[in-house]
Parts: sequence; C-alpha cells; structure tokens
Amino acid sequence: MTGRLQGKRALIVGAARGIGRAIAERFVEEGARVTISDVSAAGAATAEAIGADFVAADIATPEGAEAAVAAAVATHGGLDILVQNAGIYPWTLIEDISPAEWDAVLGVNLRGTFMTAKAALGPMRAAGGGRMVFTSSITGPRVTSPGHGHYSASKAGIVGFVRSAALEWARDGITVNAIEPGNILTEGMKEDRGEAFIREMSASVPLGRLGTPREIAHAALFLASEEAAYITGTTIVVDGGQILPEGGMIEMPPR
Ligand SMILES: NC(=O)c1ccc[n+]([C@@H]2O[C@H](COP(=O)([O-])OP(=O)(O)OC[C@H]3O[C@@H](n4cnc5c(N)ncnc54)[C@H](O)[C@@H]3O)[C@@H](O)[C@H]2O)c1
Repeated sequence: MTGRLQGKRALIVGAARGIGRAIAERFVEEGARVTISDVSAAGAATAEAIGADFVAADIATPEGAEAAVAAAVATHGGLDILVQNAGIYPWTLIEDISPAEWDAVLGVNLRGTFMTAKAALGPMRAAGGGRMVFTSSITGPRVTSPGHGHYSASKAGIVGFVRSAALEWARDGITVNAIEPGNILTEGMKEDRGEAFIREMSASVPLGRLGTPREIAHAALFLASEEAAYITGTTIVVDGGQILPEGGMIEMPPR
C-alpha cells in the first residue's frame, strides 16, 4: 500500500541519522510532508537527501522543543503527526553516573519527550486530532543490562508518560503510543557500544541479527497511520524476539 500518510504534516525529532532518519524517509515515501529536527546540523543534509525540511533545535530545552514544533507548523500550515525519537545512550555504571550525566540523559530522552509533546498539543488540537509516537526501548520497560541506569529510567519513564498523555488527550482525538526497539544497528550504536557489544547482542537475538532502522520505521508508520486509529496508550516491541528467552537461553534441545 502507498500514500498511507498522504497530505499529513509530520515532525520527526532526532532524525539527522539512524532510526529517526529512517522514519522520516518512510513517511516521505508514504506522502507525508515532513519536517525533521535535530540538534546536529547534519540534519540539513539529511533533509535535503530525503525531501524534507529541517529545523535545528535542542529538544532538551523548552525553547528548542517549542521552536521545533513552531517551525514544522509554520512550514506546512499545521501538524498532524509528531515522532519524538531523539535520545542519547551513554554507557556508564550507576556508581559512576554523575548528576550532570543523569540530567543530560533524562533531559533529552524523557523531559524532551514531555516538552515536544506539550508543544505539539495546541497545533494538534487545532488540526482536530493527531498522532504522537515516541521511541522508547526494550531497555528499561522490559529488560536491561549493566551501564543503563539512567537510560533505563528514561525509557521506562516514556512508557508511563505515554499512558498519561493518551488518557488526557483522547478527547482531543490525539493518540499517543511508543515503540520499544530492541538492538538496532545505527551510527549511534556503532559509536557508543562498539563491536564486542554488537556481536554479543546479535547472538542473543532469536532472529539471529540486530534490527535495521527501517524495521522500526515500519512500526512508526503503522502507529502514525489511519490503521492505528483505535490504538492509544500502548507500545509495540520490535526486537527480533530478544526479550523472550528465559535466562538468555536460545539453544534448542536435541531432536
Ligand atoms: N539503536 C538502538 O539499538 C536503539 C534501541 C532502542 C532504542 N533506541 C532509541 O532510538 C532513538 C534513536 O537511536 P539511534 O540509535 O538512531 O541514535 P543516533 O545517535 O544514531 O541518532 C539519534 C539522533 O538524535 C539526535 N539528538 C540527540 N540529542 C538531541 C537533542 N537534544 N535534540 C534534538 N536531537 C537530538 C542526534 O543528533 C541524532 O541525530 C533513541 O531515542 C534511542 O534511545 C535505539
């Protein structure tokens, strides 16, 4: 099927690269008019490459979150879809996490989600409804591994926020959902985790590999589309079965 987002006005936050870029590309393919927003100036080249508009903004600040939404509204005359995907994932044991690092992670991942959603509320009400989709993670809401104390808290926090926002904004015709990706091979993953982590994670996934950004984009497209009109306040896990194995065991008994 094509044209699933025909004429819809979408803002994808954290889309200079990785999962966010793939979501923006997928939405453009389906006919959406897309603004991408990122703290990195590399977002300009991404926007040009995929046929979107770009606004530079740091959504960890209230001004940045408001500026991203305001630019999207000004460019396309309104807003129907918000995807808040920006996230950072430093890898630090809890005993070594400084208050500043804690605040930085919660500031982008959780407070940034709250602030972009809050900024998008008015324009979506004006449009008569809309779709909000946030990128959470399996790390936090379902599972975790050492070094993810702040990250897990931020991503589990998104799931709690999704439920509250879905309930409060249902009467406005706004649905609010999240995606919980497993381990997805992105630039950020390669930079922040390295080869050994990627090898070990791949071996623990029942489907035998890490996911691709495009596989997360398909889920975002579904949640942003008409087909998901009656889905709100929930999450979709896209992880190749990674959360399933009891005790990490994926060996099969002999036949
Ligand atoms: N890669 C994975 O395995 C994985 C798994 C689960 C969840 N996630 C989540 O998916 C999202 C994207 O991950 P990715 O691997 O594509 O990361 P990435 O680092 O490749 O891309 C993230 C993008 O967000 C932008 N960004 C960071 N801070 C920002 C800010 N303050 N304001 C605006 N933009 C900002 C970055 O510049 C970058 O372009 C994150 O929220 C991450 O936590 C990733």
